[in-house]
Amino acid sequence: MSDVRGAREVIRQTDPTLSDGSLNLSGNLPPIVAGIFEQRYRCALSKVMTEEQLSTLVGSHRFMGTETDRRAGSVFVSLRLGSAPDVDRIVVTNGTQSAIDRLFDSIAGRGGVIAVEELTYPAIKPIAARLGIRLCPVRIDDDGLVPDSFLDVCRRERPSAFYTLPTLHNPTTATTTLDRRRAVADIARLNNVQFIEDDIYSMLPVDAPPPYATLAPEISWYILGTAKSLSPGLKVAYVVAPNGAAAGRAFWPGVKSTYWMAAPLNAEVTANLVLSGHANEVVDAVRLEMGCRHQLAEEILHGIPVATHPGALNLWVRMAKSGARFEIARLAQSRNVIVGIGDAFVVGDRLPPEALRIGLGTVLTRDQLSRGLEVVRDAYRRVLEPSLSS
Ligand SMILES: Cc1ncc(COP(=O)(O)O)c(C=O)c1O
Repeated sequence: MSDVRGAREVIRQTDPTLSDGSLNLSGNLPPIVAGIFEQRYRCALSKVMTEEQLSTLVGSHRFMGTETDRRAGSVFVSLRLGSAPDVDRIVVTNGTQSAIDRLFDSIAGRGGVIAVEELTYPAIKPIAARLGIRLCPVRIDDDGLVPDSFLDVCRRERPSAFYTLPTLHNPTTATTTLDRRRAVADIARLNNVQFIEDDIYSMLPVDAPPPYATLAPEISWYILGTAKSLSPGLKVAYVVAPNGAAAGRAFWPGVKSTYWMAAPLNAEVTANLVLSGHANEVVDAVRLEMGCRHQLAEEILHGIPVATHPGALNLWVRMAKSGARFEIARLAQSRNVIVGIGDAFVVGDRLPPEALRIGLGTVLTRDQLSRGLEVVRDAYRRVLEPSLSS
């Protein structure tokens, strides 16, 4: 089977909508920690229902967010930025994807150019294609973004923005070091490139370097979504603009196509969680659960080279044998376990990485995760260490 056909086949098979009771390790969701989720979300919802004017709440849109939404956003992002930005700079959106869509359109627009890591969040390609934006890939390695490659892209392609996942990059889990961030920030300044920094995976690690938005705030659009730390179902992401006027300009034209605005109820519940301090408890519980899941993975996959980090929601397993990713994914699938492959993340014409992405948070229980990882381990050994597997 050709690589392209193989990729299509595995991608089709890993579509979660085709799920039939299989264990799905292809997604990258945080684990549901039922005890704390039930308590804290119920508490936030009932507070909203008892304390808010419901008719006001459901009776209008909230362009950019109310004062309370934006204060909550400022508090939430301060956990990463080190201090709370002025609320004028905060925009509350209906998730990170919507924020990216608006920013790509307003910063680059049709015919524009945006630099991205050579492997990136798969939603980026269709968003850029729809808006008529060309993507230019920048090299990454185990220490994150390679500054020389960024400089080269800036000089050759003249991008107006750099969409980046500097912390626990999806899918490799690499984190760009602080030294590299400083170098990249300097290059961006000199070349008039704005950052669109997607820091969605940064809340679980306890040792993440500071965002670009602290190194070069005047050229940074910082996005902190709640999907990977609190809950994907809330669909709320906070954006920090370089300044208040820029925030208004970037999001104002989109008021005519209102899909990017946060649903008032979701924005209100999220603000309540953040301002009550309960959001921190949810994040702590997710981090703790992920710690247990990483320990399980370490035990079960012992001896298999895996790139990951204690705060990462996924493992990234690189292999040297050509086509191994398809063989392993197919073998696992034949035992009802779904894993992701590297192909969907590629930008440009580089070869797809010979790698698997394995999400640790998506299945409901640790027992399910153990079963799924055992199947992956057996498939890996059959394909790559046949003499050792029985
Ligand atoms: C890098 C990255 N950004 C954003 C998202 C989705 O964020 P949201 O649900 O806030 O649109 C994902 C989800 O997989 C992701 O991997």
